[in-house]
Amino acid sequence: MSKKITKICCIGAGYVGGPTMSVIAQKCPNIKVTVVDLNQARIDAWNDPDTNNIPVYEPGLPEVVAEARGRNLFFSTKVDEAIAEAEMIFISVNTPTKTYGTGKGMAADLKYIELCARQIARVSTTDKIIVEKSTLPVRTAEAVKSILQNTGNGVQFQILSNPEFLAEGTAIEDLHAPDRILIGGDPTEEGQEALNALVDVYANWVPRERILTTNLWSSELSKLTANAFLAQRVSSINALSELCEHTGADISEVARSIGTDSRIGPKFLNASVGFGGSCFQKDILNLVYIARSYGLQQVADYWEQVIIMNDHQKRRFGNKIIKTLYNTVSGKKIAFLGWAFKKDTNDTRESPAIFVADDLLNEEANVSVYDPKVSEKQILGDLNYLHTRTESKNSELITIFDNAYDCCKGAHAIAIMTEWDEFKTYDWEKIYTNMTKPAFVFDGRNVVDRKKLLEIGFKVYTIGK
Ligand code: UDX
Ligand code: UDX
Ligand code: ADP
Repeated sequence: MSKKITKICCIGAGYVGGPTMSVIAQKCPNIKVTVVDLNQARIDAWNDPDTNNIPVYEPGLPEVVAEARGRNLFFSTKVDEAIAEAEMIFISVNTPTKTYGTGKGMAADLKYIELCARQIARVSTTDKIIVEKSTLPVRTAEAVKSILQNTGNGVQFQILSNPEFLAEGTAIEDLHAPDRILIGGDPTEEGQEALNALVDVYANWVPRERILTTNLWSSELSKLTANAFLAQRVSSINALSELCEHTGADISEVARSIGTDSRIGPKFLNASVGFGGSCFQKDILNLVYIARSYGLQQVADYWEQVIIMNDHQKRRFGNKIIKTLYNTVSGKKIAFLGWAFKKDTNDTRESPAIFVADDLLNEEANVSVYDPKVSEKQILGDLNYLHTRTESKNSELITIFDNAYDCCKGAHAIAIMTEWDEFKTYDWEKIYTNMTKPAFVFDGRNVVDRKKLLEIGFKVYTIGK
């Protein structure tokens, strides 16, 4: 018999915690779900009466929030209160790559996780099940357990690993019908009881055979492995895209040809300007760091190559623009269509657009940007975060537009950085008329109709063709 959960708390109201808890609340009306965060502005946005103003842009999410919020879904900054009353606590705080000290640029920074563990230990007066939702290096559960057991008030804690596999932009579909739910726990009787309590939560809408249970370490490592394999596919196809450009092969034809092999499969074979997002790079760096820490040099080098290839792909795209524009972009207007790391999200973490823009700004280009969902503040913040030049210099060289036509007016070149659907339906003749000639399009996502653009008169560069 597993314990029946009636109150859940989730620490962290970000891209993972927000959508995941909204769906749990939607599907489990008998469980009270409270999502807490230190960031008051973020919580206020989650509580905005108009659910279109919630801080995470994700198709279908406003409807889910509208259905459950105020019924059994709550967003709050009262962290202690929510921890105290919950039987199950999800930790869904950010785990960025360390920017200082040992493991700088490689290891995950577990500062926020540790703070959560200490806070839970301090506040808890009843037994709790702690669920790791954030992606973490293998054996983090051990550290969390040690903190809880050594600083608590004598209450019992069980630790589970329950990594999230949702992809941004399709989070609601992924949460409603996941390929699998993965839950890792201790083999002890208490561990299994906790694990079953979480299985019961998901079983409200996920078929049992899709709920996989493992030990803690397998669960933690599976998350890193899944992201490493996915990223590896993108780097593999991107590596071949460069070869295609030199040989006359076409990467789309190659992808289609290999994708029909059922052992390879057709998904995740789109050549691009490089992968972004908060997970792929961070998780691989993490994997590399862990392998090195065990002295497994070949394993570390193997996976590190996925990142090296991705960095090359981003840099190569910027260089292609510079070279094609007669080796100088100084004072030229380059229009970026898209800034998010993929379509249907307002998330920009590790977006290739940031790094390509930074390279072009080094060449003193004037970069103009239009993205349907990313704010001006976010775009400037992303560039300032790199500390490549002063903030005032960034503001001087970058202009943000709220529509694509103005963004492209007078530009020497357009760089398509995100595969937003709306880019396909633009009046490209009109865009062409208003550009400086020769008018170039650099399609970093293979979204526009290359043949049509060539007919209009554009000079077109497409990755892998
Ligand atoms: C990823 C994993 O897919 C998800 O399971 C995990 O939980 C979190 O990390 P996410 O980063 O949200 O999800 O998006 P994903 O669709 O995986 O795309 C990641 C990056 O790869 C994007 O920049 C995307 O544009 C790029 N990509 C993806 C390609 O360049 N080509 C492809 O074929 C697929
Ligand atoms: C391969 C390709 O599969 C086939 O499409 C192509 O036409 C020729 O090359 P083959 O070499 O005959 O075929 O066998 P395959 O089943 O691909 O196995 C190749 C090697 O990989 C074997 O040594 C096999 O034991 C090994 N392997 C395969 C693994 O170690 N693990 C696996 O999961 C799969
Ligand atoms: P993810 O993509 O993993 O969800 P985000 O950065 O979008 O990452 O969200 C993580 C959230 O966790 C942020 O809103 C941050 O304010 C919150 N957070 C971090 N540490 C704590 C903490 N100790 N208590 C409460 N919230 C926290």
